Amino acid sequence: MTDATTGMKGGGYYDAHDEYQRDVAASGAGLVTACVDAVPLPGDDATFVIADYGASTGANSIASATTAARAVRARGATQPIAVLHNDLPTNDWNALFHNLAAATDSYLTLDGGAALPLVSAISFFEPAAPRGSVHLGLSSSAAHWLRHQPDVVVPEGFYFSEATGAARAALQHAADTDWRAFLAARAADLAPGGRLLVQMVGTESGPDGEHVTARRLLQAMAAVAHDMVDAGALDAGAVDRYVLAVYARTPAEARAPLDESPLREQFDVVECRTDPVANPYFTTWQHDHDAQAYARAYAAFVRGFTESSLRTNLFEPGALGASADERLDEFFTRLTARFAADPERDRFEDWTLTVVLSRRPAG
Ligand SMILES: C[S@@+](CC[C@H](N)C(=O)[O-])C[C@H]1O[C@@H](n2cnc3c(N)ncnc32)[C@H](O)[C@@H]1O
Repeated sequence: MTDATTGMKGGGYYDAHDEYQRDVAASGAGLVTACVDAVPLPGDDATFVIADYGASTGANSIASATTAARAVRARGATQPIAVLHNDLPTNDWNALFHNLAAATDSYLTLDGGAALPLVSAISFFEPAAPRGSVHLGLSSSAAHWLRHQPDVVVPEGFYFSEATGAARAALQHAADTDWRAFLAARAADLAPGGRLLVQMVGTESGPDGEHVTARRLLQAMAAVAHDMVDAGALDAGAVDRYVLAVYARTPAEARAPLDESPLREQFDVVECRTDPVANPYFTTWQHDHDAQAYARAYAAFVRGFTESSLRTNLFEPGALGASADERLDEFFTRLTARFAADPERDRFEDWTLTVVLSRRPAG
């Protein structure tokens, strides 16, 4: 089985094109402070531990951890703090340390002494911190990634929402199993009374049907891949077998395992809801009507988080007549042209799912 992703596009690319993820994280900043305020401080001779799961190359992770560290120091001016950035071993860790060294306003520069930076290079589906050590767990735009690349055939598209029958059931099952594993691992990591704030792409049920984050985008990506099949540049079978290994849960799906043993005894649910997050690229286009600039920014954002998945699971097995990387470049050139041709049709829509949990003392 292959991993769902080996990480975001490295070399500074992800951080340069992550305006959307930054807005999602910023939408949770108030919750970060509220979570810190709800956690008992461990005392001046012990360390308050902040962990961020799925930290990537760090720009947003450092910002969220700094918000949290500030809230801790507002309560205890000299409270020792450690910040643990978690991601996969294949993450571009050099970029994270570069960002940390370059940040002029970070948890390293706070009054009351620098917070200790730590990393945890292990899948977040496993315990990722010393047992019972984490006072505040954060995770933004990451816990929607499945653990493994699903082995399903989805001729209808590139996303779980297009899958039908057994393929849809398999994707739902994988998402449920993975979410339970993520939560069980956090139950191991968190200290009694600790809080966990997870923000991920979600699905909202409205009177007019289901709103699935990123659905229009994945429909556009599938259409471009089919154009490349028609042009003889991509294998049709590889396109049928590709899905992006991301699942946008509903609040009910996120909640279900927390109403069952053993997670019911381990966590109290503080929040579980979806909220729309505005699309910064589309908002800019509505003001300046510069379709080319919109398309370039939108495609770069998409490339930042999908490139590793597309290379491993679509272009390496499916590229025809040129290398996987050349076909990947062609794919994004075509996607950019499609976005520019009709900025409204394929716009990214986001209903962020927010889950806040409190770790019970026992269980
Ligand atoms: C879109 S980035 C989000 C980064 C950052 N939290 C932000 O808000 O900008 C998603 C991150 O989740 C990480 N990720 C995906 N699956 C993971 C896993 N099983 N364990 C740890 N990290 C994982 C990816 O490697 C990637 O760095």
